[in-house]
Amino acid sequence: MPSLYVVTTENIEILLNAPALGWLPKPLGFCEQGAIMVYRSFSEVFAFIVCIKNTFGVLNMGIFNMKLIFSLFITFILSSPLIAAGDAGAGKQKSAACAACHGADGNSVNLEWPKLAGQSEAYLLKQLKDFKGQKRVNPLMSGPVAALEDQDMMDLAAYFATQTGSPSSADGAQLELGELIYRGGNLETGVAACTGCHSPTGAGNAAAVFPRLSGQHSKYISTQLRSFRDNLRGNDQASMMRSVAKRMTIEEIEAVSQYVAGLH
Ligand code: HEC
Ligand code: HEC
Repeated sequence: MPSLYVVTTENIEILLNAPALGWLPKPLGFCEQGAIMVYRSFSEVFAFIVCIKNTFGVLNMGIFNMKLIFSLFITFILSSPLIAAGDAGAGKQKSAACAACHGADGNSVNLEWPKLAGQSEAYLLKQLKDFKGQKRVNPLMSGPVAALEDQDMMDLAAYFATQTGSPSSADGAQLELGELIYRGGNLETGVAACTGCHSPTGAGNAAAVFPRLSGQHSKYISTQLRSFRDNLRGNDQASMMRSVAKRMTIEEIEAVSQYVAGLH
C-alpha cells in the first residue's frame, strides 16, 4: 500500500479555497471537520507548505498549525459535503421575522442593513451561528437569532441564498481609488487586494466561505470594514479581514466600499 501524507491545519477556508485558485497541488481528498488534506507524495506536501508560506507570509497570517502525519489507513477521510443543505421552502416560512429589516426577499431598503439575497448559503449560515454564539455582536441581530435552532438557520440561509440580489449603484468621487484597492491592494502599506478572495466580480467564493460583496450597500460595507479595522468585528477566521482592514485608511475604506457596491 502506498503511503499517503495527511496535512492538517486549523484554517479550513484557505485549504479549501487554495486548490480552486490553483495555488496548491490538488489533494486526493479532504474532510471538513478535521481540516485535513491528503496527498500522495511528499513533493506535493512540500509544494503545499511553500505555497502557504509564500502566499500568506505576505499577509502576515502565520497561524497555520500544520502537522505532517504519515498515515496508512485513511479511508475514513473522504470528501464530505460542506454543509447539510437547508430547505429554502421552509426558510421562506421562517423568514417573516427577518423581513422587517432585510426585506421579504432579502433585499433590504435601509442602507445600514445588509442585503442577504444571493449571498452564499455557507456564509449566511456562518454569520447566523456567529451571532447566536456571540462571536459577532450586533444589538439588532441578537433578538432575532436567539430563538433559532440549527435547522432554522440552515433553512433561512438556504432561502436567502436562492433569492436574487438587487443591484446597487456605485457612486462617489473615489471610484478610481476604489478600483485600485480592490484589484491591486496597496503595496506600500500591505493592504491585500480584495479580488483574490472576493473574486474579480465581487461574487465571493462560496466554497471558501468568502462572502459576495457585489451589490451590497456601500454604507454597510464601509461599516464592516471599520468594524474589522477597529476590532469590533472579529469573527473572521484567521483574522483574514482584520489584517486587511487595519492597514486601510478611512479614505481607502470609503473608496472601495463605493466601488464594490456597483461591481458585478
Ligand atoms: C431589527 C432589524 C433586524 C432584524 C429583525 C434581523 N436582522 Fe439580520 N441584521 C441586522 C443588522 C443591522 C445587521 C448588520 C449587523 C452588523 O453590522 O454587524 C444584520 C446582519 C445579518 C446577517 C449578516 C449579513 C452579512 O452580510 O454578514 C445575517 C445573515 C442576518 N442578519 C440574518 C437575519 C435573519 C435570518 C433574520 C431573521 C431571523 C434577521 N437577520 C433579522 C438587522 C436585523
Ligand atoms: C485573505 C482573504 C480576504 C481578503 C484578501 C479580503 N477579504 Fe474580505 N472577507 C474575507 C472573509 C473570509 C470574510 C468573512 C469573514 C466572516 O466569516 O465573517 C470577509 C468579509 C468581508 C466583508 C464583510 C461582508 C459582509 O457581508 O458582512 C467585507 C465588507 C469585506 N470582506 C471587504 C473586503 C475588502 C474591501 C477587501 C480588500 C481591501 C477584502 N475584503 C479582502 C476574506 C478576505
